[in-house]
Amino acid sequence: MKKETLVNHQPPVRPEPSNEPLVEPVHRSVKYTLPSVEEIEKLLSGKKDAYFYSRYANPTLCQLELLLCKMQDREDALATSSGVTAITTCLLSLLKQGDNVLMFVESYRPTRYIVRNLLAKFGVTHSLLSIKDHQGIASELVRENTRLIIFESPTNPMTWIADLDFIIGQAQENNVLTLLDSTFAGLHNYGHYVIDLFLHSLTKYASGHGDVLGGAIIGSKELISSMRPDYANTGAALAPDSAYLVLRGLKTYFLRYRRQCKNALKIAEFLENHDCVEKVFYPGLETHPDHQLAKKQMQDFGGIVTFHLEGTEKQMHAFIEALQIFRLAASLGSTESMVTPAKLFFATDLAPQELEMGGIKDTTVRLSIGIEDPADLIADLNQALYKVF
Ligand SMILES: Cc1ncc(COP(=O)(O)O)c(C=O)c1O
Repeated sequence: MKKETLVNHQPPVRPEPSNEPLVEPVHRSVKYTLPSVEEIEKLLSGKKDAYFYSRYANPTLCQLELLLCKMQDREDALATSSGVTAITTCLLSLLKQGDNVLMFVESYRPTRYIVRNLLAKFGVTHSLLSIKDHQGIASELVRENTRLIIFESPTNPMTWIADLDFIIGQAQENNVLTLLDSTFAGLHNYGHYVIDLFLHSLTKYASGHGDVLGGAIIGSKELISSMRPDYANTGAALAPDSAYLVLRGLKTYFLRYRRQCKNALKIAEFLENHDCVEKVFYPGLETHPDHQLAKKQMQDFGGIVTFHLEGTEKQMHAFIEALQIFRLAASLGSTESMVTPAKLFFATDLAPQELEMGGIKDTTVRLSIGIEDPADLIADLNQALYKVF
């Protein structure tokens, strides 16, 4: 073989089956070969299961999908290029012209954008309520064309807790699909609830280090299989290198998540006792309006602490800028702590009455708590409050 040919047909090196690597290799190959055209025909007609092209399936992605569905107590999963891709893929795949979506003011802004701006172009309608409006939810779910309900718990940014027994009960009675974006609660919560599909941004707690985008759709074999052709043909797949980073991050998922919850409670308690703080929202606090529901539904209370600061919006901005360890950035679930002005980052598309429904004020601050020493985090908050007030 000439060298020009050799460099394009490199000799493979594969360890013996008894000599396994402890860390799985990353499968970067887009293409997979089969020994005959007949085998390819079998694969394309669904009679054979094999890898063919990585937009459809890839071993590293399959490894991640297998782990994700076990963590969420489900049968199957799709790993997507971002959390938003998971949301878009689900909605595009499950909805058709004339369907109605029930969603909430207490939701991630791009979810509202996708439904209000994109799906509306294709004749999908929506109803926007508060997650606390049980009467409204019940009457929207009986509407003949309501196809699915998409919601979060804890919600962004106020950390309200959705009543899962109520929502699932009403949805099942009316044959409505339930989609729970469980990014805040993580992959280990709610598995025993009869939610049809879980959505996650793997960019957050799953990968944990803020260095990779990824998302997941997790559910029954039947539902996930029905979406796989749409997933493959719209190019929603995660890149294998990104899947590897998520798999690596997941090794420390429980250590990080538990530490973040522990830190979050300490910080919430500190803020609750501070004169310059009007009200703190952390589901783990007994003063949180949904504390009992959170205790019943969740194993822990998450790493997001939200609060209304006393004073003006300008003072709130000065407080955020005075922080030295908490960094002003638009994400959550990373090892380092972050701070965001809630209205500006999450709610500029909401009308004044929708903002009020969602409980967001001009002075609302959202903290994403990291794994640092809690004493340093509290000292940072304390010095910034002292500086401004
Ligand atoms: C609740 C929730 N869902 C989905 C997403 C989207 O995730 P990604 O940035 O990975 O697209 C986010 C991002 O912040 C989020 O907070």
